[in-house]
Amino acid sequence: MKKVIKNGTIVTAADTYQADLLIVDGKISTIGRDLSDEDVEVVDAKGCYVFPGGVDPHTHLEMPFGGTVSKDDFETGTIAAAYGGTTTVIDFCLTNKGEPLKNAIQTWHDKSKDKAVIDYSFHLMISEINDAVLKELPVVMDEEGITSFKVFMAYKNVFQADDETLFRTLVTAKELGGLVMVHAENGDVIDYLVKKALSEGKTEPIYHALTRPPEVEGEATGRAAQLTGLADSQLYVVHVSCAEAARKIAEAREKGYDVWGETCPQYLVLDQTYLEKPHFEGAKYVWSPPLREKENQEVLWNALKNGQLQTLGSDQCSFDFNGQKDLGRGDFTKIPNGGPIIEDRISLLFSEGVNKGRITLNQFVDITSTRIAKLFGLFPQKGTVSVGADADLVIFDPNAERTISAETHHMAVDYNPFEGIKVTGQPVTVLSRGEFVIRDKQFVGKPGNGQYLKREKYNPKQKEIQKLTK
Ligand code: URP
Ligand code: ZN
Ligand code: ZN
Repeated sequence: MKKVIKNGTIVTAADTYQADLLIVDGKISTIGRDLSDEDVEVVDAKGCYVFPGGVDPHTHLEMPFGGTVSKDDFETGTIAAAYGGTTTVIDFCLTNKGEPLKNAIQTWHDKSKDKAVIDYSFHLMISEINDAVLKELPVVMDEEGITSFKVFMAYKNVFQADDETLFRTLVTAKELGGLVMVHAENGDVIDYLVKKALSEGKTEPIYHALTRPPEVEGEATGRAAQLTGLADSQLYVVHVSCAEAARKIAEAREKGYDVWGETCPQYLVLDQTYLEKPHFEGAKYVWSPPLREKENQEVLWNALKNGQLQTLGSDQCSFDFNGQKDLGRGDFTKIPNGGPIIEDRISLLFSEGVNKGRITLNQFVDITSTRIAKLFGLFPQKGTVSVGADADLVIFDPNAERTISAETHHMAVDYNPFEGIKVTGQPVTVLSRGEFVIRDKQFVGKPGNGQYLKREKYNPKQKEIQKLTK
């Protein structure tokens, strides 16, 4: 059935204006004043913003990690995402050395099919570059539409790739039109610091942060950026947590390198002292990179404001406190790394960012949706409100107040790292390709309705365009 969204204020990365939206066959067909049509369902957005649905570029749903599996899967994770105003997720498909890439991708299709309630896509982890991988990658790009590759510079003996692999991935991505993503921490130095800490009997959660200091993130970020310059390639640094790393990205961009940076809500709102909570509660706040000293938060906010960091990912990788995080009691290295963020990514950026004057409303849309869709080959199908785009829309009440809590969240885990934080601004209704997923704050979607998205290749012109439009 056709729908018309009336009386709302449409907000894109560029504009804020009042207009109605007509939705036909899942797409935005007309934008204008006083729209109506026959057999049309009217959705009233009075007093609300109408944003393009959020695109979360960084999720780990049902991912084996740290001796367990992340708890939210493609069903619970995408339901929670939709509650939070996200209508597309791009999840990381893990690969194993020696295994055909297509097998790994099939594993990810098997776990997402019939489960996702919103659209989704995959990034591909690169664990090695050899003749077999080089032969398969162009096929993966063409047939699966997977156009972004992830290299881990940390997690020694688990996911970590060496510099040759990173460099060859950058060279290959340049040739094929892919975007290389890095988890930028120096895994070798961390490994040394961790062994030293354990040998000194330092086992509590805070040592997770103290053995991964900002210097190891800054060094790896700078190294990846330099190698990108050398390969004349393109790089996206995930989960930037500190001033040292943000500075390396800014420096690379000043040199003209095609380098982009993502941060996450936890680094903007929480700090290292959370890891010191008593009774092992610090384990709830174990991420890699770790939470940082509070002064880094302002640096990250300023970098978002100035365009030195461009996106916000959730890095959703959730584990229960009881039964999963507590695998690391007595040894911080056994605490599964990650947390439940997918649901609150957008509310936190709106409340802490727009409402507190740190970023503008249009920047907020760019950071949570438009820029991500552009970088990852989904724009303009996703990431904007324009005629012909998918009707992935969020009707957002900027005045709704809510206190974040595990008691009311929709993620499948037993705690929320933002417990007790008050946010102003909440999605009321969320549509995916014109169908209600959230209606009046209630889930009305259906597992399996989310479609797999094949993505376009990386557009190397976008850094220049971003400069011209600034
Ligand atoms: O601690 C984190 N970030 N867990 C998820 C995996 C990763 O490194 O992104
Ligand atoms: Zn990571
Ligand atoms: Zn991650």
